[in-house]
This record gives sequence, C-alpha cells and structure tokens, in this order.
Amino acid sequence: MIKLVKAKLSDISAMQALVLSEVKEGVILNRSEDEVATNIRSYVLAKEDEKLVGYTALHIHSKRLAEIRSLIVDEKYRGQKIGQKMVEFALEEARELGVEEDVLVLTYLPAFFEKLGFKEINKEVIPEHKIWADCIKCIHFPVCNEIALVYKLS
Ligand SMILES: CC(C)(COP(=O)(O)OP(=O)(O)OC[C@H]1O[C@@H](n2cnc3c(N)ncnc32)[C@H](O)[C@@H]1OP(=O)(O)O)[C@@H](O)C(=O)NCCC(=O)NCCS
Repeated sequence: MIKLVKAKLSDISAMQALVLSEVKEGVILNRSEDEVATNIRSYVLAKEDEKLVGYTALHIHSKRLAEIRSLIVDEKYRGQKIGQKMVEFALEEARELGVEEDVLVLTYLPAFFEKLGFKEINKEVIPEHKIWADCIKCIHFPVCNEIALVYKLS
C-alpha cells in the first residue's frame, strides 16, 4: 500500500539515490543535500511501507506563484498513479497555503501535466525571474527544450 507523507531530513539519502539516474540524464536538476535539507518542508514522498518510491516538491516563489519541482517515481512503480497523486497533493498544499494564482512546472512531459489540468504557456511570460537562476545549473543550459505549463488556482 502506497502512502504519501511529508519528508524528513532522514529521507534525504534515499531521495538523492532515487533521483540519480534522472539527474544524470538531465531530466531533473541536481540539488545538493544541503539544498534539499533547506527546502525539506517542500517535499512530499510516496512510500510503500518504509521504502521510498517517489517524491516531488512544491516550491513557493511568491504569494502568487508556486512551482512543482523534481517529480520522480521509481521506474518499477510507474503507471500506478503515484505521480498523479503526488502532484494533486502538491496542488492541494498550494491551495491550503493560499498561493494566489498559479502553480508552474517546467518539464519534458507536458502530456502528463496536461492530464492533470495544467496548460502550456510561453516560457517568456513566466513572471518571476528567480526561476531562471536555476537554469544556469542545468546541463542543458542554454539550449533548453523544457515546456512551461501552469495550473490556475483561481
Ligand atoms: C513522470 C512520472 C513521475 C509519472 O509517474 P507515474 O506514477 O508513472 O504516472 P501516473 O501513473 O500517475 O500517470 C498519470 C497519467 O499520466 C500518464 N503518464 C504517465 N507517464 C507519462 C508520460 N511519460 N507521458 C505522458 N503521459 C504519461 C499516465 O498514462 C496516466 O494517464 P491516465 O490517467 O490516462 O491513465 C514518472 O514517469 C517519472 O518519474 N519519470 C521520470 C522523471 C520525470 O520525467 N519527471 C518529470 C519531471 S517534471
């Protein structure tokens, strides 16, 4: 049985191990242990008993904008709606926190997010410039094919 739980600092090693292959492929941005620790409250984990099988983060940029980051499900556990449930959890968290307008995602998998109600937008219209501060850390910088989508909360 899969359950969704908030992350603890003791989960970080397993989180880093789970995401390693996607980081190497350049699908998910590398985050240092310290960066994950600093943002530990952002993360929701999917666990089967005590085994980590997936996670994502809801990162708050401003009163109006949050972002879904680092969405990953263990390859052996894909296709069981775990990814969907984690994104829905993050969207609910954004509502509860009172994020006023949008939840953004930058992804190579627009179809996955469109099924959950996200709509594609032109990357140039993303308002918060601090998002791009992350891009220089990416192995694909500056030629990036990621698609930007937003989920409208209001
Ligand atoms: C993307 C990912 C998290 C999906 O997790 P998952 O638990 O297998 O997905 P779900 O079972 O919740 O799928 C929900 C729906 O999305 C669809 N979907 C899943 N993966 C998809 C993909 N790669 N492309 C298009 N649609 C996809 C499913 O078919 C399902 O549709 P349905 O409701 O019509 O049946 C997982 O494939 C993964 O970890 N990929 C590698 C990392 C990655 O690309 N992360 C995204 C970075 S933003």
